[in-house]
Amino acid sequence: MRILVVGASGTIGKAVVEALQGVHSVEIIRASRKNSDVTVDISSTESIKAMFGQVGKIDALISTAGSTHFGLVEEMTPEQNQFTVNNKLLGQINLVLLGLNYIRDKGSITLTTGITMDDPLVTGASAAMASGGIAAFVKSAAIEMPRGIRINTVSPNVLEESFEKYGSLFVGYEPVSSKRVSLAYKKSIYGAQTGQCYRVY
Ligand SMILES: NC(=O)c1ccc[n+]([C@@H]2O[C@H](COP(=O)([O-])OP(=O)(O)OC[C@H]3O[C@@H](n4cnc5c(N)ncnc54)[C@H](OP(=O)(O)O)[C@@H]3O)[C@@H](O)[C@H]2O)c1
Repeated sequence: MRILVVGASGTIGKAVVEALQGVHSVEIIRASRKNSDVTVDISSTESIKAMFGQVGKIDALISTAGSTHFGLVEEMTPEQNQFTVNNKLLGQINLVLLGLNYIRDKGSITLTTGITMDDPLVTGASAAMASGGIAAFVKSAAIEMPRGIRINTVSPNVLEESFEKYGSLFVGYEPVSSKRVSLAYKKSIYGAQTGQCYRVY
């Protein structure tokens, strides 16, 4: 099984790679803008096309990439929000649109959303927009996936590993371990469900 992990060098990506590796029949291809097997910038459709051209056929696509703008709505500029749109929202959706033909029959796609779409957080509106958009896209796209391909999302709570960085925003939240979050991606790949959003709260 060939698994492409976009965002493999990140906090969630590294945990996902660790959860998936060590099985003889699994080949993991790591992708990100730097320090990975394959270079990609998901905010560029040309870069995504080049990545799939280089990687070739895969059985599973995982995205744990997608930067967002955090900031108050009354101070947010269209450009700041557009950054979230170009990266987390359209970046991940374009991975699906441009990658579908590279995914083998009965393969899977797993994208990443986040708790802000369900649990409003001060400064989290732009991130919530992206996550909500991805979740709705995936739920709808699942009924159109060809060749038995499945598509799901994982929506993590704030991670223990990220709590020092984001903890001041997430007061009263109980962070989750990256190991627990990584299991949701494993379930998406090896399970039979499609159109799901696995909330790891
Ligand atoms: N950490 C949390 O607590 C948490 C909770 C809920 C949801 N999430 C969501 O989960 C996702 C990943 O979070 P994380 O904490 O693992 O982030 P992270 O540690 O910053 O890692 C992000 C990964 O994506 C890559 N990346 C970033 N922008 C990219 C681009 N334009 N094209 C290609 N690769 C790109 C990064 O590598 P390069 O910089 O080399 O490209 C890195 O591998 C984000 O969408 C985040 O909103 C995170």
